[in-house]
Amino acid sequence: MKNVILAIESSCDETSASICIDGKVMNNVIATQEIHSKYGGVVPELASRAHQQAIGPVVKEAMATAHVEMSDLTAIAFTQGPGLLGALLVGGAFAKSMSLALGIPLIGVHHMKAHILAHFIEKPKPKFPFLCLTVSGGHTQIVRVDDYLDMTVLGQTTDDAVGEAFDKCAKLMGLPYPGGPLVDKLAKEGNENAFTFNETSMPGLDYSFSGIKTGFMNFLNKEKMKNANFVEEHKQDLCASIQRHLIDMLLSKLAMAVKQEGVSQVAIAGGVSANSGLRTKLEQLAVEKGWEVFIPQFQYCTDNAGMIGMTAHYQWLAGDTAQLTASPMPRMKF
Ligand code: KG4
Ligand code: ZN
Repeated sequence: MKNVILAIESSCDETSASICIDGKVMNNVIATQEIHSKYGGVVPELASRAHQQAIGPVVKEAMATAHVEMSDLTAIAFTQGPGLLGALLVGGAFAKSMSLALGIPLIGVHHMKAHILAHFIEKPKPKFPFLCLTVSGGHTQIVRVDDYLDMTVLGQTTDDAVGEAFDKCAKLMGLPYPGGPLVDKLAKEGNENAFTFNETSMPGLDYSFSGIKTGFMNFLNKEKMKNANFVEEHKQDLCASIQRHLIDMLLSKLAMAVKQEGVSQVAIAGGVSANSGLRTKLEQLAVEKGWEVFIPQFQYCTDNAGMIGMTAHYQWLAGDTAQLTASPMPRMKF
């Protein structure tokens, strides 16, 4: 009998559903919530409401495009955490209802582990052990991956995520949310060595991004006192310079981790892995250091249910199913 999993992701501002059959991700339907851009960040209450509206149609589309009927499903997977409580509740309640109604197992998936297992959706796939740098609006982690379900966090941010730092610095320059992709675009036309900002350095493999954001803000405030149009006149150079800082911070710790673990396969995941500067510098570093680098297709880098289905497949093989009493875990442990 085939293992047909319906996977649901609703941890932040993307409502997504995917069908995974015997470990093969058949599709990945994503509804992105545009509503947050006018508020300059994700508004949790609005995210929950938008998930409620989108979840039915998104699930229906995923099932229809994979030609799967309710009676074909063998398990329902959902993102149990970490994420926004109200957002997780919507996907969780939907998954539990379907599991109860169809009498099939429920699988609770860890969102961050799923970002890493997104590398197994398509080829080329990394071999164990490998390191994964997961960089998004909510997370920044370096993880050692020894097997599908055997992962160890080596380092992580102690405050803001790197995507958050991109977005907050973009906001300070008057750019709309999410600012990360715009900083990337403008940085291409700027000089990355034009400006330097104060940053906080952390011991070991942990990160801190709140210091650089403050350093950037203080720098802008000082310059704006001298010239009110400073930001407008230097936007490209500012974007290129802040991006250079953030990428250098990410890659210097990654290089330390590679050295410490003696592992030469390096993967990146999460929304910030779309950053062209990060991709270029990582590829340069890989050539220099002899690493093999893995970057998933963009649709599997940002929040998506394909990665939830992939992870659920391995959990299902390991007999790791959840009870109907399983509750959302906004701070789910790794
Ligand atoms: O993984 P993701 O879609 O959602 C979560 O946060 O889980 O990541 C979104 C983050 C946002 O902070 C966004 O600004 C950032 O990824 N991002 C980028 C780029 N594309 C998305 N940051 C820098 N450069 C990009 N090209
Ligand atoms: Zn994510």
